[in-house]
Amino acid sequence: MEKSHEVKNMKVNDSKFLIAYFSRPGNNYVGGTIVNLPVGNTEVVAKLIQELTEGDIFRIESVNAYPDGYTETTEMAQQELGTNARPELAGHVENMASYDVIFLGYPIWWSTMPMPVFTFVEGYDFSRKTIAPFCTHEGSGFGHSITDIKKSCPHSTVLDGIAVRGGNVINARNEVAQWLGELGMTAKK
Ligand SMILES: Cc1cc2nc3c(=O)[nH]c(=O)nc-3n(C[C@H](O)[C@H](O)[C@H](O)COP(=O)(O)O)c2cc1C
Repeated sequence: MEKSHEVKNMKVNDSKFLIAYFSRPGNNYVGGTIVNLPVGNTEVVAKLIQELTEGDIFRIESVNAYPDGYTETTEMAQQELGTNARPELAGHVENMASYDVIFLGYPIWWSTMPMPVFTFVEGYDFSRKTIAPFCTHEGSGFGHSITDIKKSCPHSTVLDGIAVRGGNVINARNEVAQWLGELGMTAKK
C-alpha cells in the first residue's frame, strides 16, 4: 500500500481507507478532573488506526476554532447543537470517491458528534461506502451518534464502531487492533 500522509485541500493517493477525525486539544474533563491535552484523545486513536491500516488521514476542523477552556467549549458546543448549526470547515477531501472505507472519528459532545462532523458527513456522497465509526468519551459511549450517522448517510454501510474512554486512549492499542482485525481491515504486510 502507498505511504499515508496528512491531507488538507489536496489530492491524496488512492489508498482505499480514509481516517477522518475531529479532535480538540486543550483543556478537557478526563476521569473527573480538568487536564490540558496537547493532543486530543480522538487524535490518539485516529493515529493508531492510521498506523494499523496505512490509510490516509484527514482532520475535520471548523474555520472557527473552539476555545481552549473546557466550560467555554461546552457552552459553544451546546449552542451549536441547539441551533442545529453546520459550522464551516477549514478543509475538504478532494478525492473522496477513491475511498471505500471511511473511519469516522470524533469525541462525544452532548451525547452525539460535534456539529462540524455533521457538516463533514453531509458534505460528501457516502452512498455505497462503508463507515467505521470510532469515538472517545467520558461515559456516554457512542450516545446517539450512530443513529445520527445512519440518518445522514442512509445509503452507507455503518459498521459496529469502537468507543474508547478518553483516559484510556494511551492503552487502547490492543483493543483498536482487535477491532480492526475483526473488521478485516488491518494493513496487509
Ligand atoms: C463540549 C463537550 C461536550 C462533551 N459531552 C460529552 C458527553 O455528552 N458524554 C461524554 O461521555 N463525554 C462528553 N465529553 C467528553 C469528551 O467526549 C471526551 O473528553 C473526549 O475524549 C474528548 O476527545 P478529544 O480530546 O479528541 O476532543 C464532552 C466534552 C466536551 C468538550
